[in-house]
Amino acid sequence: MKPVDDIQEAARILESGRLVAFPTETVYGLGGDAENPAAVASIFALKNRPADHPLIVHVAPEADIGYWAAHVPDEAVSLMKAFWPGPLTLILKRAAHIPPDVAGGQDSVGLRCPSHPVAQALLRAFRQGKGGVAAPSANRFGHVSPTTAQHVRDEFGEDARLGMILDGGQSEVGIESTILDLSRVDSVGPVLLRPGKIGASQIADVIGVMPKAPDGTAPRASGTLASHYAPGTPVAIVPSKRLFQTLELLENHHRKVALLHFSLLPAERKIALAGEVSLYCSPDIYAHQLYVALRNLDMVGADVLIVEETPQGETWKGVNDRLRRAAYNGQGVVERLIASE
Ligand code: TXA
Ligand code: MG
Repeated sequence: MKPVDDIQEAARILESGRLVAFPTETVYGLGGDAENPAAVASIFALKNRPADHPLIVHVAPEADIGYWAAHVPDEAVSLMKAFWPGPLTLILKRAAHIPPDVAGGQDSVGLRCPSHPVAQALLRAFRQGKGGVAAPSANRFGHVSPTTAQHVRDEFGEDARLGMILDGGQSEVGIESTILDLSRVDSVGPVLLRPGKIGASQIADVIGVMPKAPDGTAPRASGTLASHYAPGTPVAIVPSKRLFQTLELLENHHRKVALLHFSLLPAERKIALAGEVSLYCSPDIYAHQLYVALRNLDMVGADVLIVEETPQGETWKGVNDRLRRAAYNGQGVVERLIASE
């Protein structure tokens, strides 16, 4: 637990309009006062994020959601009861007095109550628990989200715009929150904008309706861009049955390979790898370590980061979504690396 002094100082920094990075159970957030347009503008500037991409507003467990939302549908009440505090973000119609900047100009607001004790202490200290902390993941736009305080330092160095980094250890969940759009629930129904640890069927168990996939009219969400959460090294996802053969081909072409896998590699022939991380093949454990693994493997100077394809199925949806986006820019990289020297 953080010393009370650190939390109080962080709250004062937020109240003065400056930024604080803080741990949540999903990933670290880059926080600023959600109702202070200058603070919100500096989040966008520091992250280098387009100003029309909305930010999630983090609130204390005792917060009055009716203050932030113009309308709180029954589905939201049930889901908050079931999953808050925790890794679920709800998009609701924004109350008229909340500045639109935090929502990237949209008429909605994304709300989340994190379960991490340091995040909760900060939210309770900031404006006596009555404020909201706007916080995207504390990484530069499009890059891999941070799950440790050191990752945040790696992203922003000593940038003076970041007043303080609260260290709360490694984030437990490891991938960003599930985002459910309820802003049009009466006309369109619930829409799942971003998969996460809380799956669609868990949501359906609570509200009795399976959330839909987003269509063209769904609100924009930056985590839903085709390329996101991407390391600098090109990423290629390779099915288990072709994994060893692919590694051999790349080795024969003298390529430097970083590998993220869960299967055992054949012991009889050792492949030289620039970096290797083996993760346990369970969605929660894999998600917990995923961004640490991608960041570490990105630093070994490989030509390609090969990721063994993970299982399909509902419980893997959050992980598979992040892997697909990480691999978007790397399409065709293996073929290119073995076609030429
Ligand atoms: O787990 C998380 O959600 C982390 C931690 C820090 O809480 N935050 C996070 O923030 O992932 P960010 O900004 O990297 O992703 C927030 C996503 C974006 O895709 C954004 O577009 C969407 O939430 N979002 C936020 N408010 C929205 C709104 N009003 N309408 C539609 N999408 C919204
Ligand atoms: Mg992000």
